[in-house]
Amino acid sequence: MNIQELQVAGASFVRVNDLFMTKSSLKYGEETLDSSKPLHIKFNNVDFQYKEGIDVLKDVSIQVDGGRTLGVLGHTGSGKTSLARLIVRMYDIKSGEILLNNKNITLIREEEIAKNIAYITQDVQILTATVRDNITLFNKDIKDEDIIKIIYELGFQDWYESLSNGLDTYLELGSKSLSSGEAQLLSFIRVFHKKPTLIIFDEATSRVDSATEQLIDSALDKLLKNRTCIIIAHRLSTLNRAQDILLLENGKVVEFGERKTLLEDESTKYHQLLQRGVEEVLV
Ligand SMILES: Nc1ncnc2c1ncn2[C@@H]1O[C@H](COP(=O)(O)OP(=O)(O)OP(=O)(O)O)[C@@H](O)[C@H]1O
Ligand SMILES: [Mg+2]
Repeated sequence: MNIQELQVAGASFVRVNDLFMTKSSLKYGEETLDSSKPLHIKFNNVDFQYKEGIDVLKDVSIQVDGGRTLGVLGHTGSGKTSLARLIVRMYDIKSGEILLNNKNITLIREEEIAKNIAYITQDVQILTATVRDNITLFNKDIKDEDIIKIIYELGFQDWYESLSNGLDTYLELGSKSLSSGEAQLLSFIRVFHKKPTLIIFDEATSRVDSATEQLIDSALDKLLKNRTCIIIAHRLSTLNRAQDILLLENGKVVEFGERKTLLEDESTKYHQLLQRGVEEVLV
């Protein structure tokens, strides 16, 4: 292991540690979530801070009905990832309330949130392990044939066939042996067998090559079926599949509503963005 790899390992260790420290201070209840239907989400006047005195989300009120897809956009630092983190309860809010299936998030069991919500982050953790273990996260109950079936279902067969040793191919620490787009493909496979009732997809900020982009796009369509979805996007085209749109600016809701309605209204920022015909949005 060279110095650089060691630093990467150190950095992710600190991150994981941070997560545990935050988690351990949270109190959970005993409520469950119905895993037979898409999750319903509601934010009522949510304020959130990582550090005392620095507001990250301010008075956010939104609703995502079961089975709908919400697209989220906003400049870097506007609070998109923070919003996602609150839904998987990595942090508690300062005031307001978050309801999942009309139950206050603080009353829901930790395992229920983990089981029902898949969060595909911007920065996928790749383990120094085989492709198989990176997909199953060492769950021995998941059979190779099921993994391969999912790979084909999602349209990733070319990637799979290019691996030097199939599922036994060893991946290197960090994302050295995978591009950031490929790392996101891998996390798609990770979550697909979990059958979550909500998927949150936080699109990678770094440029992804167009072949990988196409793979992600078509896999997204399969992933989103019969589920509630939140897509945090940096490309406008990713948002075309959303029914609702949320635009954040400095932690505040600037626009929120049906995509079609926002699109037709010439005074909206969403309409103007599309009008400008740019591919990348608000970076
Ligand atoms: N763990 C943290 N501790 C303290 N502040 C944080 C933390 N994570 C994010 N922030 C701050 O919260 C604000 C919102 O960040 P967030 O990551 O939610 O933005 P984002 O909209 O996802 O940006 P990007 O488009 O770059 O991904 C920023 O000012 C950021 O610096
Ligand atoms: Mg982000």
